[in-house]
Amino acid sequence: MNRSKFFPIILVVLTVSLTPRCTYHNVEDQFEPEVAACDTTEVSYATQLAPLLQANCVSCHNSNNPSGGMVLNTYEGLKQAANSNRLLGALKHETGFSPMPQGAASLTDCDIAQFEAWISQGLKNN
Ligand code: HEC
Repeated sequence: MNRSKFFPIILVVLTVSLTPRCTYHNVEDQFEPEVAACDTTEVSYATQLAPLLQANCVSCHNSNNPSGGMVLNTYEGLKQAANSNRLLGALKHETGFSPMPQGAASLTDCDIAQFEAWISQGLKNN
């Protein structure tokens, strides 16, 4: 029997079965990984902003070492920084502002959104 006439068929079957297919197991996989929702309702100075400042800013901005005149380890100091209109520009690395935190990567968009929301919510000492 002439096997060579089956060869093209075998080739097609092999090609189809060995070709990786871009199948998705569920709908979510078809999209970019979902960005965790950024909750900016009722931002708290004490539980949200103070820890961020402590971790990223206070080493250079405290009462003993208020770089650029900014004291960021107290509520009053943060309020003054916000009211000076220097805070968001520095955090967002806008032109005309010194990008903060100095010498480090900027805060995440969500962290910056917390500061922005806290300001528009009335700079509460909450
Ligand atoms: C390594 C030290 C350092 C760290 C960390 C740092 N800063 Fe600063 N910051 C400075 C210095 C020095 C200045 C003053 C000189 C200048 O403006 O570049 C300054 C200036 C500023 C200003 C005034 C900027 C302007 O354009 O007028 C703001 C607002 C500020 N910092 C906020 C922050 C915040 C918020 C953080 C944390 C997210 C932070 N800084 C972290 C050193 C630091």
